[in-house]
Amino acid sequence: MRSFLPLSLLGLLSHACSTHALTFPVRVRPRADDRTASGRLTTRAGSGNTLLPLHNTQNSEYIANITLGGREIPVLLDTGSSDLWVAGTIPQTTDLGMSESLSYAVGNAQGDINTATLNFGNYTVQDQAYLLVKDISTFSINIQAEGFEGLIGLGPNTGSVIRDKMDDPKGDSVLARIFQQNTTSSNYMSILLNREGDPNSAASGHMTISEVVPGYEAITEMPKLSVMKDHKLTDLDQHWQTYTDVDGLIGPDGNPIAYDSIVPSAPDGQLVVVFDSGFTLPQVPRKVSDAIYGRVQGAEWNTQYEAWTIPCTQMLNISFKFGGQTYPIHPLDVSSSDFNLVNSNGDTVCLGTFQPISTSAFSLLGEYDVILGMAFMRSVYALFDYGNFVEDTSQDLGDPFIQLLSTTNATAAREAFVQVRLGGVDTTGDASQALLPASQEQQSPESEEEKKQEYEEKVLSRWPEIFVGCLAFVLIVVGIIVWRCCIVRRRKNGAAQKGLLPTNNKGAPSSYSQLAGASTATLVGMQNMEGKHV
Ligand SMILES: *[C@@H]1O[C@H](CO)[C@@H](O)[C@H](O)[C@H]1NC(C)=O
Ligand SMILES: *[C@@H]1O[C@H](CO)[C@@H](O)[C@H](O)[C@H]1NC(C)=O
Ligand SMILES: *[C@@H]1O[C@H](CO)[C@@H](O)[C@H](O)[C@H]1NC(C)=O
Ligand SMILES: *[C@@H]1O[C@H](CO)[C@@H](O)[C@H](O)[C@H]1NC(C)=O
Ligand SMILES: *[C@@H]1O[C@H](CO)[C@@H](O)[C@H](O)[C@H]1NC(C)=O
Repeated sequence: MRSFLPLSLLGLLSHACSTHALTFPVRVRPRADDRTASGRLTTRAGSGNTLLPLHNTQNSEYIANITLGGREIPVLLDTGSSDLWVAGTIPQTTDLGMSESLSYAVGNAQGDINTATLNFGNYTVQDQAYLLVKDISTFSINIQAEGFEGLIGLGPNTGSVIRDKMDDPKGDSVLARIFQQNTTSSNYMSILLNREGDPNSAASGHMTISEVVPGYEAITEMPKLSVMKDHKLTDLDQHWQTYTDVDGLIGPDGNPIAYDSIVPSAPDGQLVVVFDSGFTLPQVPRKVSDAIYGRVQGAEWNTQYEAWTIPCTQMLNISFKFGGQTYPIHPLDVSSSDFNLVNSNGDTVCLGTFQPISTSAFSLLGEYDVILGMAFMRSVYALFDYGNFVEDTSQDLGDPFIQLLSTTNATAAREAFVQVRLGGVDTTGDASQALLPASQEQQSPESEEEKKQEYEEKVLSRWPEIFVGCLAFVLIVVGIIVWRCCIVRRRKNGAAQKGLLPTNNKGAPSSYSQLAGASTATLVGMQNMEGKHV
């Protein structure tokens, strides 16, 4: 299962092919200035503990510094996985002699589990477990050139491969270790990403632990989106995932994009999304990507990137709905000029960032529909409360939740788009920008691999029904055997009473009933599983 579970980094695949040609001058104007800081909510006592600045590499990676065993290391922030790994050498470290391999969409991180002293912001953790990676040759990208030398998984602790391997609380993830240090502080982390190429975006993003970025206190008033706890086959399946509202994805024509979730337990009209800061490009069902880009004049499917391209001048307006709130996506994030692409006419075009879900990220077990990566996360300020995901903390043991505060003012975003992509002249109303009628929507081609996966997903999602069917058959057969057996036994007993057979002949029927009992237990288990996930 693991090979496709740590979801992240896929976007890097495509990014690896891009040349870093684009750089817009970034005018520094902290977002916080745009908002009226509500005086009501103040940051908690002990604030200033950790407000970490984030380095942004071409809107494709967000990176923070940690110090591990005495060495300062830039690591990629990844809410889609739960382990820490670093490459290179660490001055003071203890090799536990356990080797492990973590799989990501860009390749495998392989090495030995080590422990060392970790400094993250103002927090210090003794003996933090991590993977010291000696070999990153399978990676399809040069991580150092991208500005990082490791990755910090910010997902739920239960998703940690290292913890699973060590089978010991010492293997807990970095945030779990930090939250455990102070049982009275709240178990949450927040992420605010900046946008390169947007004149209104802040110079730097931030990550905080147990406190809110100053100026964004309103996030604590936003609806608490409950996290779907998914323990389908292994705990490692646990991600930061939640439901959209019904009709929770509004397309460029202002209408909801219709799509049936592949998650069997999802209510009608709702999609299951995973928030993953390690994915550059959000991953959406192919039909959804087609609905976003397929009606744009001049849209072309790009086989190299397996995504749509559209004219860079096309402004597209899409939004997501969670907890009754609407979250518009900044139009500069709906298509990206970072990839330096041309279409079949040789014209410069932009990449449609909401990419049809790649086969390496597709949820074969039908656990989620959408992975909301950086091109979504730049439009919100996100708070992740780990609640009872963290063991060994005496307080804050509520259910985990996510809160999202929109950082995108649709009017201001539109103005930024006009300035950056249209040279200040608003041509968004031109006939050339109008969407084609729905009947003329282009469809992107489905690969053979995808068709196979879709089929497998269907079979997998039905297997409980198949199993229950088989079980019913087995129970009937067992019933017949038991019935026959009882008759035989009665006859035998009758026979014994008549002194024809030995009487110590009771083993067989009781083992049959054990079998039937075991089957019933399994059946109940299956029903639970079915109710929960299938
Ligand atoms: C660490 O704490 C000090 C004082 O409490 C504060 O000034 C500093 O900004 C903090 N550092 C980080 C990275 O939060
Ligand atoms: C990480 O540390 C290096 C070296 O001290 C510094 O140049 C860089 O700006 C830091 N990056 C972040 C995101 O703090
Ligand atoms: C633990 O967190 C609380 C609340 O933020 C804070 O008041 C307290 O000083 C912290 N204790 C330690 C030992 O850091
Ligand atoms: C973008 O969508 C919002 C919400 O659906 C709508 O209010 C706004 O008018 C749209 N803007 C454009 C340019 O289509
Ligand atoms: C959104 O941006 C526009 C234009 O910059 C501004 O006039 C308006 O006040 C902003 N709206 C909010 C709610 O901040």
